[in-house]
Amino acid sequence: RYGPQLRRSIGVVVPTLMNPFFPKLLSGVAETLQPAGYYTEVFNAELDAMDLDHLLTRFVPAVQKGLILCAPKVTTRIVAEMAQTTALPYVLTDQADDIPGAARISVDDTAGAGQVVDHLVGLGHKRFAIVCPPQLPFNMATRYRGYLDALARHGIPSKAVTYVSAPLTRAAGEAAAAQVVRLPSITAIIAIDDDLAIGLLKGLARLGKRVPQDYSVAGYDNTDLAAYVTPELTTVNQPVMALGHAVAACILAQIAGQTPALPAPLPVQLQIRNSTARAK
Ligand code: RIB
Repeated sequence: RYGPQLRRSIGVVVPTLMNPFFPKLLSGVAETLQPAGYYTEVFNAELDAMDLDHLLTRFVPAVQKGLILCAPKVTTRIVAEMAQTTALPYVLTDQADDIPGAARISVDDTAGAGQVVDHLVGLGHKRFAIVCPPQLPFNMATRYRGYLDALARHGIPSKAVTYVSAPLTRAAGEAAAAQVVRLPSITAIIAIDDDLAIGLLKGLARLGKRVPQDYSVAGYDNTDLAAYVTPELTTVNQPVMALGHAVAACILAQIAGQTPALPAPLPVQLQIRNSTARAK
């Protein structure tokens, strides 16, 4: 009774389920797949990245109709394996490694980073910390370049920008606050995602620093928490549901034997809230 249904699944390989971005992306995917009679199977690369054997021999073959790849490090291996064994439709998005020629749907990380910098420079900030991991996945490398290019466009020299290393968690953001406050003259902190930014808000408060009076803090994602922290977080709204719809539609088009029309990078919009203010 359930057999045919099990063969109508689409696998989604995510880097983590701890960041609210990915459950929301999965919701968007499901909104498009379910009415078409497909359901999603999730492979959480954070837990199983070491178990590539499981991923390649059990998960990929079990997923009958297609793959949505969002995780770094495993993407290239999966695509190479599929090239040997099966012609499963797939699409790359978000943190997936870059594979030239493969279908990819992105959001406009360059524009989003530029909007953050334009906003902070417009508020008079001249010295910046950028908080992000040392090894950036594909989309965040684009975002990081976007910050630096926009700062250069405003004539901000690279010596005015300090990179602070932290993995993509709220706890790491909280810990990074101690490094930031030791940096002389920094007034603006750019976190490469909201989890880091939210952690920074807590870490700065614990160190007796006020946001936005002592530091402006900007995030990236506009996750649902961003409007619920104090102060409310200025951040870039990623169209996460729309991204989920777009990657799911891309897979459905491939299943229908069509060449999917890939959209231009989806537009993003800076959401200005209370964590940023005029530099002192
Ligand atoms: O950690 C959340 C981040 O991961 C988001 O910025 C999103 O783009 C994804 O890559």
